[in-house]
Amino acid sequence: MEIYLVGGAVRDTLLGRPVHERDYVVTGATADELLAQGYRPVGKDFPVFLHPQTHAEYALARRERKTAPGYHGFVTDFSPDITLEEDLLRRDLTLNAIAQRADGSLVDPYGGQADIAARTLRHVSPAFSEDPVRVLRVARFAARFAPLGFTVHESTLTLMQRMVTDGEVAALVPERVWQETVRALRESQPDVFFEVLRACGALAVIFPEVDRLFGIPQSPQWHPEIDTGLHVMMCLRRAAALDAPDTVRFAVLAHDLGKGATPQQQWPKHLMHESNGVPLVQALCSRLKVPTAFRELALMTCKQHLNVHRAQELRPTTLLELLENCDALRRPERFSELLLACQCDAQGRGGREHWPYPSREYLEAARAAAAAVQLSEAQIATLAGPQIAKLLRERRIETLRELKR
Ligand code: CTP
Repeated sequence: MEIYLVGGAVRDTLLGRPVHERDYVVTGATADELLAQGYRPVGKDFPVFLHPQTHAEYALARRERKTAPGYHGFVTDFSPDITLEEDLLRRDLTLNAIAQRADGSLVDPYGGQADIAARTLRHVSPAFSEDPVRVLRVARFAARFAPLGFTVHESTLTLMQRMVTDGEVAALVPERVWQETVRALRESQPDVFFEVLRACGALAVIFPEVDRLFGIPQSPQWHPEIDTGLHVMMCLRRAAALDAPDTVRFAVLAHDLGKGATPQQQWPKHLMHESNGVPLVQALCSRLKVPTAFRELALMTCKQHLNVHRAQELRPTTLLELLENCDALRRPERFSELLLACQCDAQGRGGREHWPYPSREYLEAARAAAAAVQLSEAQIATLAGPQIAKLLRERRIETLRELKR
């Protein structure tokens, strides 16, 4: 039996990045032999075992053959005569197909180290196309390693394009698409994820609402970058630079979907794009089964981003309505996330990355001031429910009027 460290741990060590998880591959052994040594079996599809002490994952070397579309149509062979090279051959990218022996020496039959040196994401073999999730994985790795200078190799992009035209990408289940998307949103250059998907045609299949934005002009007065798709990418870059949480990044992605529905005669204006965006955000979220917290913030950002931008121009009553519509007094954290998403929108524009965004501070102050308004115990005791609500609103409006001064 031979044991090798494989996958992300070897790659990240070579890149000088922290290692989060150690996966091992075992050749020349059977499941029974591992069980006899105290390894605990996990997973129903493949024979994977947890080490009795370290709990790291150990998988028997395997060979896979595709039998049907989608990622369930596999026949897997994990007999003890399967070599390490065969196991590495079915992996996605060369930089993920390097193995390390216990003595530290590397086994790198497919040129992973050379591709790391050349900053290239390249598929190992034609077997790449047997798993459509890999289209998303490559885009995600491109987003992660873009700051190091990595790009997708032309031949890999061509293969990904073919997987899109063959309908493989359309067959992906929503859970996997969302899982990869949310991980990509957290990467250091999430915009690269969407750019790579666009380059291979997958964006039009998975995120048609986002794909459509490329080529749609906006008014140069507000958007020196002109192109709506480019604007959204710049907003994502800004969100990453501001270290925004994943919910905010998703809201940023979805905030301008309504611009894709503007009749062409109106370009470069986008009247009502906030309300026009709502059904598109809803459609995207239900299709991908996006979790509630992400969906709520995305819808709110889509509806309210222009109101947030012009907050300082709003009359006190309208300002309170904005706070109420956002449920800002009961959900202050989510309201702060909305403001951050709007900041990314304002600063994700050509040459405006470092423009100040006073709306954020102003609305935080407005929320705090409105929340601080209290009625006395005597007032609460003597007034009926609707009167209490009315008085509270009046006091809040008064407070917001003072804030404006
Ligand atoms: N792998 C693959 N195809 C997939 C999923 C995984 O070839 N669709 C292989 C790759 O060799 C990968 C390894 O299995 O390196 C482990 O996969 P995973 O833990 O998902 O990814 P990591 O490469 O460890 O990356 P991350 O840092 O994102 O966890």
